[in-house]
Amino acid sequence: MPRVLIVEDDQSSREALAKALSEEGMEVVTAASGEEAIDRLRLTPTDVIVSDVMMGRVSGMDLLTYVQEHYADTAVILVTGHGTIDSAVEAMRRGAYDYVTKPIDLDRLELLVKRAHRKQSLVRENRDLRQELKRRFSVAGIVGQSAAMRRVLEQVEQVACTNATVLILGESGTGKELVATAIHHNSQRADSRMVKVNCAALPESLIESELFGHERGAFTGAHRSRKGRFELADKGTLFLDEIGDLSLTTQVKLLRAIQEREIERVGGQTPIPVDVRLIAATNQDLSQALAAGKFREDLYYRLRVITVEIPPLRERPGDVGLLLDHFLTVFCTEHGKSVKGFSSASRSKLCSYHWPGNVRELRNLVESLVVTCRGDEITVQGLPDAIAPHREAPTLTVPMGKSIGHVERLYTLKTLELVGGNKSRAAKVLGIGKKTLYRRLHEYGVVTDQSETEETKRLAAGPSVSSASASPAERRLHPPPTYQSRQE
Ligand SMILES: Nc1ncnc2c1ncn2[C@@H]1O[C@H](COP(=O)(O)OP(=O)(O)OP(=O)(O)O)[C@@H](O)[C@H]1O
Ligand SMILES: [Mg+2]
Repeated sequence: MPRVLIVEDDQSSREALAKALSEEGMEVVTAASGEEAIDRLRLTPTDVIVSDVMMGRVSGMDLLTYVQEHYADTAVILVTGHGTIDSAVEAMRRGAYDYVTKPIDLDRLELLVKRAHRKQSLVRENRDLRQELKRRFSVAGIVGQSAAMRRVLEQVEQVACTNATVLILGESGTGKELVATAIHHNSQRADSRMVKVNCAALPESLIESELFGHERGAFTGAHRSRKGRFELADKGTLFLDEIGDLSLTTQVKLLRAIQEREIERVGGQTPIPVDVRLIAATNQDLSQALAAGKFREDLYYRLRVITVEIPPLRERPGDVGLLLDHFLTVFCTEHGKSVKGFSSASRSKLCSYHWPGNVRELRNLVESLVVTCRGDEITVQGLPDAIAPHREAPTLTVPMGKSIGHVERLYTLKTLELVGGNKSRAAKVLGIGKKTLYRRLHEYGVVTDQSETEETKRLAAGPSVSSASASPAERRLHPPPTYQSRQE
């Protein structure tokens, strides 16, 4: 319900208005003069002002000017005296939402207040959405601190405010579309549309009419004329993704459109001027396509006026940690999880991985890790095999023709090595008692530490009772090394 400020110097009219609007469930505040209204505005957030025009020193018109300057989100409805149509016209001209004449038709006033409130809410919502978009796609929305990414961000900032055509190069998943979107949202065209065309996804027979539109009857099935993406992007930005996949025929037409700044619909005769900022992207090596005669040189030079190259993630390992934390926050919020971070082992595995699918792969992985995480941090156990291959059971190769004792010795020592020298754990994995393990180690002559030697001797001297065997859970967590035999 709207919060309304009624400004009226006549006490009885003021009270009558306040009563009528309050009864409609609106929150009503009153002021007896323009000055008092200004004080009230400072104290109370107001959606709609209903103000008399004729008042003491500060008139309704003055109040309107003040509100427009200081409270752009507040709508003003002016109340004019009977027969003062001139001031009503003037009020509308100056940006009042509407006016009512005295004697006031209360039903009409209530309706106007509600409408004004709805309109202001929409305006506010729209502005908030735009700000949110700006925030999300602001240059700051592109995460990266490496020198290469800083250079990309600098370029985005430099080119955004110009009309220059931009060519964005980079492997799949490096953020080409993100950069294109950031350029658009930071440009003066941000309030107009950014139209995207994936050149690879459109069949050759359709691409021309998609880009340039067609006239009615231009081809079988063209029952009515249709605007193409160039026209739809007028005053805005046209993002041509996967430009390397355009056929040579379409390349010629595209070149013409860029050069002439006008297009012709398929089946049309009249050139249509278009004001479009072009951003193109590809993950192909265009210079190779050029050499192979698959891409026109003239178009290539037109497009690469400004080239932004986004390096693959493996060439900027310093960005991985930042991206991990960024997407962890993003997906914890999105999925309502409270994962605090990555264990140091998992972080180091993730940071040394080569990310063939670049940021997209990292983003998708972090999302699935967040969703499936049970504890409060992401551990190595949750990582896919491609990133933490150590989780595969290690193998041991033993030459044939050796005694069981020899194999047992190798197997025991390898197990001990794999569990980082932890003898309790090694004994569990081997399924033998700790004392047995100590005795064997003593026999192998591998225990060098003095205190351990003493302990080993003591244990080895006692009866060798094999007590602690690996629990099933322990076996699952630490699969014993597999044994591989090989003919010599
Ligand atoms: N530097 C970055 N900071 C934050 N998010 C990023 C960054 N780079 C890429 N992303 C995110 O990774 C995903 C893939 O990015 P995008 O779609 O822009 O890649 P692309 O280069 O266009 O890939 P393709 O060639 O496959 O179309 C998107 O969700 C994007 O928001
Ligand atoms: Mg893309």
